[in-house]
Amino acid sequence: MDSRRIVIAVTGGIAAYKIPELVRALTSAGHICRCVLTREATQFVSPLVLETLSQHPAGDDLFDSNSGEIDHIAVADWADLVVVAPATANTLAKMNHGITDDLVTAVVLATKAKLLVAPAMNVNMWSHPATEANVAALHSRGVLMVGPEAGELACGWEGEGRMSSPADIAEACHRALTAQSLTGQVVLVTAGGTSEPIDAVRSVTNRSSGKMGFAIAGEASRRGANVILVAGETVLATPPCVQRIDVQSALEMHEVVMRELPNTHVVVKTAAVADFRPARAEPRKIKKEDLAPNEGIRIELVPNPDILADVCAKVAATSGRQVVVGFAAESHDVIPAAQRKLARKGCDFIVANDVSRTDAGFNVDENAVTFVWPGGQIEELALLPKHQVASEILDRVEKKLGERT
Ligand SMILES: Cc1cc2nc3c(=O)[nH]c(=O)nc-3n(C[C@H](O)[C@H](O)[C@H](O)COP(=O)(O)O)c2cc1C
Repeated sequence: MDSRRIVIAVTGGIAAYKIPELVRALTSAGHICRCVLTREATQFVSPLVLETLSQHPAGDDLFDSNSGEIDHIAVADWADLVVVAPATANTLAKMNHGITDDLVTAVVLATKAKLLVAPAMNVNMWSHPATEANVAALHSRGVLMVGPEAGELACGWEGEGRMSSPADIAEACHRALTAQSLTGQVVLVTAGGTSEPIDAVRSVTNRSSGKMGFAIAGEASRRGANVILVAGETVLATPPCVQRIDVQSALEMHEVVMRELPNTHVVVKTAAVADFRPARAEPRKIKKEDLAPNEGIRIELVPNPDILADVCAKVAATSGRQVVVGFAAESHDVIPAAQRKLARKGCDFIVANDVSRTDAGFNVDENAVTFVWPGGQIEELALLPKHQVASEILDRVEKKLGERT
């Protein structure tokens, strides 16, 4: 996403030692970070570490003007987002009551930016009615929350109160900074390659990693959509707030997609679905020792259902309002093949990519795609990280949705 200005306000909980990792995650995503701390927070994390990682002065004193660099109003005005992490019980209480007796609470009260808090404390402090009331009040005023999670706590107790991981807080920051343009929409994304069984241990599959589809699912969820991710074989972690349904074969993927289709507004078919499957899957492993020396085996392949064609036909036969996006992964003759595919299937547009490239397509973090539109227009994008390609795809999906309302 675009570079945004994030103030990380650190308070005096043990989890403050994880905040340098949050600064790293946000700066590597391209954001500009400034850190402010309470005096207690400096017991747990050094301002010098935060200063070095954020490349901006990190202040902890409301009255130390430090040559004007850490002015609480200037910092509050500068921010697009203020994230309080970890947020202690004490600071949550002060935030609720508008107390501003340190740099963190002064910035928090003065800012007009969005506020996100990542509470972290002992389970009994978290479940105390005072904390519950403070959290409920902040929530009702539109303050966003991430965590806390349940688990083993630094104080030795077990239960809810552990700060969310820096990666989850970074994701919550991205969400907070993203326009909720897909709220109320159900987006179904298929991702990864299917795996067509030959016997109990072997299968016919392809090199799709699922990264493109997972990036689309993650971005759609960030934009507020309810996302159903139908995933073939992949080792990728499920993006936050996404409902994932794992499948193995094209037949299973077909069944799940057709079942979920009536409840969706958008379908993005990123998965590399096998066109053919072995006619017969042996229930047990085919053993070499059961064959004559040098004897081969013949595998008959039969066609799989065409999921994209079936989706388009169903949409055309029912409301006709769903937006359907197809992918064409080709090794040669990419654009003409994608244009033929679009004409055959009748989806809204096709995202074509050349999977013979080593710097784009299957199993890498970047992709170079071309949008192929009905009527023959094409729109070529440069080589981009897959999360940016996901954003470009969803911008066009939103435009199509807008045209249908
Ligand atoms: C070792 C240690 C760990 C602490 N961890 C937490 C914590 O995780 N969460 C919390 O709310 N308070 C924790 N506290 C208590 C806070 O540091 C204390 O309430 C302090 O006044 C918070 O100040 P602040 O909110 O201005 O940073 C801890 C205290 C100590 C001594």
